[in-house]
Amino acid sequence: MNASGQIKELKEKLNDHNYNYYVLNDPIISDGEYDTLLRKLEKLEKENPKLATKDSPTQRVGAKPLKSFQSIEHKIPMLSLANAMNDEEIVEFYDRIVKGLGSDRGLSFVAEPKLDGIGVELIYEDGVFQYGLTRGDGVKGEDITQNLKTLRSIPLALRTKELIPPKLLEVRGEVFIMIEDFKKLNEHRAKNEEPLFANPRNAAAGSLRQLDPNIAYKRPLSINCYDSGEIKGIDFNSHSSFLNALKSWGFPVNKHIKIINKKREMAQYHHDLESKRLSLGYEIDGTVFKVNDIKQRKMLGVRSRSPRWAIAGKFKAQQSTTKIKNIIPSVGRTGAITPVASLEPVNVGGVIVTNATLHNQDEVNKKDVRIGDTVLIQRAGDVIPEIVKVIQKKRPDGLLPYYLPNQCPSCNYDILKEDNEAVARCINIICPSQIKGKIKHFASKNALDIEGLGEKIVNQLVEEDIIHTVDDIFTITFDDLVGLERMAEKSANNLLSSIEKSKLTTFSRFIYALGIRNVGYHLSKVFEKYFKGDIIKFMNAHFDELEAIDEVGPIVAETIINFWANKSNIDIVQSCLSNGLKIDNKKELKSNKLDGKTIVFTGSLSQFSRSEAKELTESHGGVTSTAISKKTNYLVSGDKSGSKIEKANNLNVSIITEQEFLNLIN
Ligand code: IVH
Repeated sequence: MNASGQIKELKEKLNDHNYNYYVLNDPIISDGEYDTLLRKLEKLEKENPKLATKDSPTQRVGAKPLKSFQSIEHKIPMLSLANAMNDEEIVEFYDRIVKGLGSDRGLSFVAEPKLDGIGVELIYEDGVFQYGLTRGDGVKGEDITQNLKTLRSIPLALRTKELIPPKLLEVRGEVFIMIEDFKKLNEHRAKNEEPLFANPRNAAAGSLRQLDPNIAYKRPLSINCYDSGEIKGIDFNSHSSFLNALKSWGFPVNKHIKIINKKREMAQYHHDLESKRLSLGYEIDGTVFKVNDIKQRKMLGVRSRSPRWAIAGKFKAQQSTTKIKNIIPSVGRTGAITPVASLEPVNVGGVIVTNATLHNQDEVNKKDVRIGDTVLIQRAGDVIPEIVKVIQKKRPDGLLPYYLPNQCPSCNYDILKEDNEAVARCINIICPSQIKGKIKHFASKNALDIEGLGEKIVNQLVEEDIIHTVDDIFTITFDDLVGLERMAEKSANNLLSSIEKSKLTTFSRFIYALGIRNVGYHLSKVFEKYFKGDIIKFMNAHFDELEAIDEVGPIVAETIINFWANKSNIDIVQSCLSNGLKIDNKKELKSNKLDGKTIVFTGSLSQFSRSEAKELTESHGGVTSTAISKKTNYLVSGDKSGSKIEKANNLNVSIITEQEFLNLIN
């Protein structure tokens, strides 16, 4: 094939991979393989500079830093949305629409999450990305093309499989940062002593406003598209058909978007989304309801700054103020000492909060938090509430700064803080708090999942000197258990049998259970796949081998080497094995494609049996369940499926066919 043909093929391949990775969340090649293809394309383009086009994936990085941003006018102003503060105001909005249209005939709405990020506009001509702007003041925005190009979820060339792109297409959406990514970003900044971002929104805004696109490139920015600016060359008669076109062109569109036909379903959607808010993985601050039909939109028109055909339903505030009763140092399983503020109970967005983490001494100093202070607290997309700031005006006289103790509150051993770490640690390996934490972690859901071995029992077992290390769990006897406070014979037997059951486990569960620092649930699966379930090989792996594994960096490799350099860790593994722990290699992972996904199968299946379905799911890192809940990711529906379909629809769970399930894992 000639250079031009090769370049074309590589561009298509790379664009497909970007689409699979960033839009479908379903990568089919590793980052390493992607880079190899990209380098090949770079080389070919260097040799044939005339063939390097604007839409080439090589154009995402490498642009020179700007001196300043140019201001550009939006062809059509980017409006804002009027707010509905509660259910009544959502109903009033509906009634206003019906009044405006003269009837509710053919009226439907598209309900969407209101993403808490930065509004942007992307301009495409004949299917090729030209430039992109911030929303700015709605009339004019800043040209942030270079930074937007670094988002691999933004197509540089539109996909054309289903629909030819129009002459002009202006797409609007929200750039944001996933909460997990935000945490990692801040952790990284803390390590480098850079100022932390207050929240994901500020981090996204700050990243888009970088004059150097190489900085933006390193920021984990995501985008969801939800609106149009000017379009020439294609007409849509509904918003939902526009969103479908966006999907077919390769834009990421939020998966919780739903068409709503009835008035009462609006508040229902709003509440459902509010209850999912903390589990979405990104921040939203409400819902948006938009009239679906474009003709009806035109009839309703716009006010000066917001359209009459849309409204934003606001969620209850996720911030409140309260008083700090005490600050208590808590010792984690790795010995990390975290100052935890004990609060006067307060309702934050519908949940009563009594504790908030202060992370570490630096955080306490920076925010100058003192016992007795009144503070603003917030729940982000996280279960652990945080202290945002002290309300200085309310500080009574005489409060003293807070310092973590020099001795571990659990074992009185010295606490040490390494210069390069923000956390202080108790370094006593037989500290009871650490032991309890390690054992709780070992028995937890994603680890050995030992039912009945909860916090209270672990505390008693450690305090009564019955167990000291995780492998001691396997030598607990009936007599040990019935001797504990409030432990009946039946519960003792149940616990013994769930301990017995937990002995047949997988490589990834066991590795995760050991609690090696920096090796979480996901990495343990990466290792399972790489070492094919062979724990001895994992224990003997050298630094270079570990570091060469995809997703493993030098820090993780070093922690693992250090972990096995400690003989007591090897003893623990050996003791677990000699006490009957078995790694079931049948359950070895074929891929991580269903990592963290819960799948329900329903109806009569024709391509595989129920047990094969379960095995297939697990071998790709997923779990199956028999009941649909909001945690379900997919309902795989065979013939004659019943009520599950309706339930899945209500809970916004994706329903797929058997073949689509097989496509997911192949
Ligand atoms: S539609 C007139 N849809 O909210 C239509 N906006 O207050 C306005 N936003 O500037 C845009 N999620 O940055 C729309 N699903 C969504 C949205 C959304 C977040 C932001 C957007 C806009 C602001 C309006």
